Amino acid sequence: MIAVGSDHAGYHLKNIVIQYLKRNNYEVKDFGTCDACSVDYPDFGQAVAEAVSRGECEKGIIICGTGIGISISANKVPGIRAALCTDTYMARLSREHNDANILAIGGRVVGPGLALDIVETWLKSQFLGGRHKARIEKIHQIEKKYMKVDGGLTDE
Ligand code: RB5
Repeated sequence: MIAVGSDHAGYHLKNIVIQYLKRNNYEVKDFGTCDACSVDYPDFGQAVAEAVSRGECEKGIIICGTGIGISISANKVPGIRAALCTDTYMARLSREHNDANILAIGGRVVGPGLALDIVETWLKSQFLGGRHKARIEKIHQIEKKYMKVDGGLTDE
């Protein structure tokens, strides 16, 4: 299951991404927004990130105008590695080296054709493990140092 969410600036591209995912037989959970009215990107970054962090969705795709605000928001949720990608090289490496579990895209930065290439590359690329695994573990240690709870979310 792929969690998808955007603010108003990403709404149009979100619809295109959802259509693409469904056409390619991915299961999709749409966390909104539901129209082009102005909303706050942290709400949608958080909703997608929590679904991924809890294991309800395997991966997530989030979109705002630049992809910056929504990726910053998602990365505050424990266990989330959201990668903002503007090309297919970044998309591939974010999976192979960083084991990114959320892809962030800027709906005002990349056109729909490139965005779908980024999505396809990101979904098809696999984490390489090995030396990269130890680095992911170091990221987890940073998270642990600053969080009261070790990994995942509590029900509070
Ligand atoms: C909304 O105007 C815009 O600020 C938002 O979509 C995003 O680009 C923030 O990082």
